Amino acid sequence: MPVQFKGSHILSIDQFQREDIEILFRTADRMEPYAQRRKMTRVLEGAILGNMFFEASTRTRISFGSAFNLLGGEVRESVGAESSSLVKGESLQDTARVLSGYSDLICMRHPQSGSVAEFASASRVPVINGGDGSNEHPSQALLDLYTIEREMVARGRAIDGLRIAMIGDLKYGRTVHSLCRLLCLYDNVRVVLVSPRELAMPEDYVEALREAGHSVLVTDRLEESIAHVDIVYSTRIQEERFQDRQQADLYRGRFRLNQSIYTRHCEPNTVIMHPLPRDSRAEANELDRDLDANPNLAIFRQTDNGLIVRMALFALILDVADQVDRHARPVHWFNPRLA
Ligand code: NCD
Repeated sequence: MPVQFKGSHILSIDQFQREDIEILFRTADRMEPYAQRRKMTRVLEGAILGNMFFEASTRTRISFGSAFNLLGGEVRESVGAESSSLVKGESLQDTARVLSGYSDLICMRHPQSGSVAEFASASRVPVINGGDGSNEHPSQALLDLYTIEREMVARGRAIDGLRIAMIGDLKYGRTVHSLCRLLCLYDNVRVVLVSPRELAMPEDYVEALREAGHSVLVTDRLEESIAHVDIVYSTRIQEERFQDRQQADLYRGRFRLNQSIYTRHCEPNTVIMHPLPRDSRAEANELDRDLDANPNLAIFRQTDNGLIVRMALFALILDVADQVDRHARPVHWFNPRLA
């Protein structure tokens, strides 16, 4: 049975069926003119988003907030565990009980796996998981797959039959965990998992991919892994999950991609993705700046798509998706984006 988005928490990709993803993506398509400020709508007028980020974030927090604003809603934020009552010993359930009196929907990021689900269990309003420790980051995987679909369609292909290499910290990277779960809903995918052995994809994700009938190759060799894939999905070493910086330094910079490696090893149309932030320090440099001129670098298309996918999630959860266009209005101010 497809999920009813209306009033639902979004905690894990596990809750979705393929039909749900189709509903979400086709709703996202309709959000693009609003995200680009070609039109405006106020369907969420009077609604308040509680944006609770107890761990570092830039794009996820701002894009959730902007997406809510673009639908006409207001945003309240709390940033950093140190400035919240959690440091006074308040339980996640009490915080949830209180905050759900102030907001109509809550987005939450927290360093502990499972914490957002615990919070949601005591919330009176829908909660979206904005990343819980190294566990999951469902909205990122949804925007990643939406981007993959668009990139593949532009190449006359589909998600079914995709060939993808995921590279880097696959042990702690929550975006790739959610993306693996999401790919399990599709057919005939070939997944190459490239990481140092110590940072390999946890076995249950590998098993799930195989059970979905996908072919999975686990390796620590970059160059041959990127040779016959449609998507190279690079990730950052999740330094904040290591004991200390020295431990993370052991792996930093192991899998660098630059234009000359791309030209030598990748097929000409291979798409390059990364959830961002990319670690641009010289010792890491996962995706070299010289790739910025490569039209197949999709990292900023991912962030733009993040806005419309998050708008679609809000519109479906708060049950206004059908009203967005009915309430459309022209934009009167100078729009630098369209100049
Ligand atoms: C990711 C995250 O927080 O998991 N960032 C994001 O939300 N786009 C990836 C990362 O921090 O490396």
